[in-house]
Amino acid sequence: MTVGSVLITGGTGYIGSFTALALLEADYKVVIADNLLNSSEETINRIELICGKRPEFFQIDVKKEEDFDKIFKAHPDIDNVIHFAALKAVGESSEIPLEYYRTNVYGTICLLSSMTRHNVSNIVFSSSATVYGDATRFENMIPIPEICPIGPTNPYGRTKSTVEACITDHVEAQRNNLKKEGKSGDHWNAAILRYFNPAGSHPSGVMGEDPQGVPYNLLPLLAQVAIGKREKLLVFGDGRSAISHIGHPYGERMLTELTVDYASHDGTAIRDYIHILDLAKGHLVALNYLRDHQPGVRAWNLGTGKGSTVFHMIKAFSATVGKELPYQVVGRRAGDVLDLTANPKRANEELGWKAERTLEDACEDLWRWTKNNPQGYRQSPPKELLEQ
Ligand code: NAD
Ligand code: WQD
Repeated sequence: MTVGSVLITGGTGYIGSFTALALLEADYKVVIADNLLNSSEETINRIELICGKRPEFFQIDVKKEEDFDKIFKAHPDIDNVIHFAALKAVGESSEIPLEYYRTNVYGTICLLSSMTRHNVSNIVFSSSATVYGDATRFENMIPIPEICPIGPTNPYGRTKSTVEACITDHVEAQRNNLKKEGKSGDHWNAAILRYFNPAGSHPSGVMGEDPQGVPYNLLPLLAQVAIGKREKLLVFGDGRSAISHIGHPYGERMLTELTVDYASHDGTAIRDYIHILDLAKGHLVALNYLRDHQPGVRAWNLGTGKGSTVFHMIKAFSATVGKELPYQVVGRRAGDVLDLTANPKRANEELGWKAERTLEDACEDLWRWTKNNPQGYRQSPPKELLEQ
């Protein structure tokens, strides 16, 4: 018996795959759509390995509306969509902004149009804390509540805020159209989830983050240092260094011994790292909320409410690994802000959701995944994991 059917775009990616697993475990039927640009089909095997259920997979491009039509025709029972598929590298978004708008904004328009044609009217959208930009520019907005004015500082963030607006306008228009036609009944219902910094892997060591190419985020980079793929971590944080950020920071940056000077207790920037299993659960409860509440659009922060500095993260991951991980302080990364810590009160109260896992859990799970899968999804999972 399934409790509902869900299309997950971007479902072979990092957050999408964990959400697919959480939904299957909660007896939803799951259909995944992804073009595998930044993920591997092996993810589907791993999901099945853990929960014994296999989601159906469609290799599609979100920029092709007709691809969505095919899925909705093949699965007329789909009544919810969770939309993860997107390009997400902040630095790259300044180099090829049109590709970011094409995939993230136009791709969502294709999805919404096809959903409308097929009477699918529940959507959960992957937004990002990055839409807030630098919340320290306001008084009393750290930790960040959803009422904090948004103000993204890079093209990627602007694609996310544009999609939030696009979904909000579409839901409103659908409601008005129904009213004009004198119809009652279902109309659109949307959850906008603003994630803070996802971290960690599945405790089994079978599923984790498998970034293609050079990673961009702190924890995958630390994991590469720990396993010897990278000599040291570059800590971004010296505002006095005028080194510009051209291309990937690990490609072009000059190294200098400098001191960090963000206005935190240790001079490094603060982020809210949330365990991937907690984040995935947030999607499940948001979906249940849409099912049980009046239609409309609602935004929720998904974060822990606890901020950690870069130095704290290095210490925490070093403790997990059991050795000091080398780092070097370099200039600030363009677009980085001092503090992105969530105020998750709204999600706690309205969704009954709370992040339960600790930073130590995230570090341990990430390390288990890294040791067991040095080639990520490009290798079979170790036998001993399969036998557990
Ligand atoms: P990911 O890259 O692992 O997953 C995104 C998936 O989308 C990938 O599997 C990729 O192959 C797919 N995709 C990309 N372009 C596509 C296209 N044209 N058609 C079909 N599929 C396509 O990223 P993730 O970390 O799992 O992020 C998922 C979502 O969450 C994204 O929307 C991202 O912007 C958002 N988000 C991520 C973070 C983060 O730090 N990871 C934080 C906040 C928000
Ligand atoms: C975390 C901290 C860096 C790498 C990004 C996106 C955001 C969201 C999550 C999608 C920062 C520092 C990092 C390194 C470092 N993604 N750092 N050396 O920038 O908070 O958020 O991912 O929506 O939109 O911007 O995450 O993991 O890159 O950085 O010192 O080599 O680690 O300066 O303070 P970020 P991150």
